[in-house]
Amino acid sequence: MFVKNTWYVCAQPEEINRTPMSRTICNENIVFWRKEDGTPLAFEDRCCHRRMPLSKGKLVGDKLECYYHGLQFDEAGKCTHVPGQTTIPPGAEVGTYPIVEKYNWMWIWMGDPALADEDKIVPYPWKTADDWGDKGTYFYVKCDYRLVIDNLLDLSHLGFVHRSTIGNAAVAEAARIRTLKEDDSVTVARWTVGQPPAPTYQKMGGWTDDDIVDRWQIIEFQMPGAVRLFTGAAKGAAEGKDFGFTDIDLPVPEGGFGFHNLNFVTPETETTTHYFWSNAYQIEGKPVTEEMTEMSYKQIFTAFHQDWEVFNKQQENWDDRPTIDTIQDAGSIAARAMIDRMVAEEQGEMAVAAE
Ligand code: FES
Ligand SMILES: [Fe+2]
Repeated sequence: MFVKNTWYVCAQPEEINRTPMSRTICNENIVFWRKEDGTPLAFEDRCCHRRMPLSKGKLVGDKLECYYHGLQFDEAGKCTHVPGQTTIPPGAEVGTYPIVEKYNWMWIWMGDPALADEDKIVPYPWKTADDWGDKGTYFYVKCDYRLVIDNLLDLSHLGFVHRSTIGNAAVAEAARIRTLKEDDSVTVARWTVGQPPAPTYQKMGGWTDDDIVDRWQIIEFQMPGAVRLFTGAAKGAAEGKDFGFTDIDLPVPEGGFGFHNLNFVTPETETTTHYFWSNAYQIEGKPVTEEMTEMSYKQIFTAFHQDWEVFNKQQENWDDRPTIDTIQDAGSIAARAMIDRMVAEEQGEMAVAAE
């Protein structure tokens, strides 16, 4: 069961073009394509005639033509042409999904189209901001999407999985942590004060093992699949701070650098996930350069690929036996409870509507 009344990232913009593309989201097979003027469209990937996947068909102008018997469908999913006859059979149409392009991603609404409000898309302005250097990509992961959310809400794993990149022992052992739960979000704030920087942080900040910095990691989960990370380090950054939650968009302090990172996990099935991520960096007092954007991307790519290996292995081992929790799991436990609650609410509403 998945949350349906929400925007999920479904593709990178260039993946949706004039060749129909098939992708499964929340167990639903969908075909994506664009009209000649570039408008993106998403249909159920199943012809209403004899169930041929429409992604096997072709585009004829602004119509999608089924591969099997040539029925054509317009942008509203209505059949407009049946070869060999002049009338259109009643009900000759396929389901469509709201789809929009925003922050250089494609977003799809899987639930009631009447509720699809673009303003509900999780903001990620750093993707195109001039003073942040951003680059990201897509991973296909063979795991339950909630394992990715667990991972991002418990960054103690940086001290183990990511010791060659964004982690060191201090992040696991010495962080001060607070967790804040709201109706549809969970925020975990971690401050690791007065510790040497991790390898990636040394590269980004121009530091060595002998430097001592304060590092912040503010992790914000928003229902049901978005996790934004606001992280960075600077010497003395924690001075005078109360370790509260007001610093989500903390300006990078003098002599420091910051990462702003959006992870969006979209369920394909119960055990497979589309993982879209993007990472923006900023070094205080220095202009964004292509070289540093590339270096920051490579560091995060290496780190997230380390996570990718963990996710696949976890899923292979997953079964019905109970797992134990640690204090670091507070955020992910709250996030999972929110997802369960929202799925139950939607199921309840659908049951009432069906009565
Ligand atoms: S199955 Fe699509 S036209 Fe027959
Ligand atoms: Fe990680």
